Amino acid sequence: MPPLFPERASTMATRVDALYFFLLALAVFFSLLIAGLIVYFAVKYRRRSPESVGAHIYGGLGLEVTWTVVPLLITMVIFVWGASVYFAMATPPEDTLNIYVVGKQWMWKFQHLDGQREIDELHVPSGRNVKLITTSEDVIHDFFVPAFRMKADVLPGRYVSLWFHPTKPGRYHIFCAEYCGTRHSGMTGEVVVMEPSDYQTWLSGGAPEGSLASAGEKLFQDLACITCHRADAQGRGPVLQGLFGKTVHLQNGETVTADEAYIRESILNPATKITAGFQPIMPTFQGLVSEEQVLELIEYVKSLGTQPQVEPPRAAPQGPAPGETTPVKK
Ligand code: CUA
Repeated sequence: MPPLFPERASTMATRVDALYFFLLALAVFFSLLIAGLIVYFAVKYRRRSPESVGAHIYGGLGLEVTWTVVPLLITMVIFVWGASVYFAMATPPEDTLNIYVVGKQWMWKFQHLDGQREIDELHVPSGRNVKLITTSEDVIHDFFVPAFRMKADVLPGRYVSLWFHPTKPGRYHIFCAEYCGTRHSGMTGEVVVMEPSDYQTWLSGGAPEGSLASAGEKLFQDLACITCHRADAQGRGPVLQGLFGKTVHLQNGETVTADEAYIRESILNPATKITAGFQPIMPTFQGLVSEEQVLELIEYVKSLGTQPQVEPPRAAPQGPAPGETTPVKK
């Protein structure tokens, strides 16, 4: 007999299955109850002679209150339980191992912060919270790992985060769960969950290009970003040191949080959100950098946030307005 359920290999899998089995049990119970009562009543209240006429019944308050209140309570249980599982899934914990995922017709590309790159195979350690920051470089895909009960649309132009806590070493299928063209059904892969020590060995095995942030730093220099985005606040572009996670005041009076999506937009469509006090002079890098390179640049900007920062006195019209700092999350 084929297994009816995929393996449970993450903390969320147990919670999702518990809720699923509760719903299943509820559906089975009421289906049997209703079917049973139909048969029972059909027999009990059957027409016994051709002349018999059914009794007229005008309401029954007790019965009506019961069949209103009982389903209400049951659906509220489903709602609260479902919402708690949903929020747990949607909120990555603080201490995550972050990995970037780029979907592409028809493959999954993974970038580890240490610089390792993988295609259609993702190595992670068992027993750690792993956050995947996903995006697509063409159409909508959907990252689905049944063993983790984890599934989310992967969207072009946006970063969608999902997280899991793998509980046992093994190899688990990745599927694309959104029709994305001819070879959609072949857009599969495997998550390889390893013992932490094996994972360390695997990590040390190879990152020829150095960390993601260092690749971003090199790109930052190669693209000459550094000529305007100087650390001393004297450049023609905003200072990027310590930027990530902060609130940025814009020319049009609005504010925006400097997250991954904001940095990506600022690279590809720099004129959309101009920092207060700066001119819209930055050229677009659309077509000049790939999605992977955008991620490298984002990691570089993130890495600047953790470096000790010497705040030079700002020239009055330049630089973002003061009082804009919120603690940098890392
Ligand atoms: Cu990618 Cu279906």
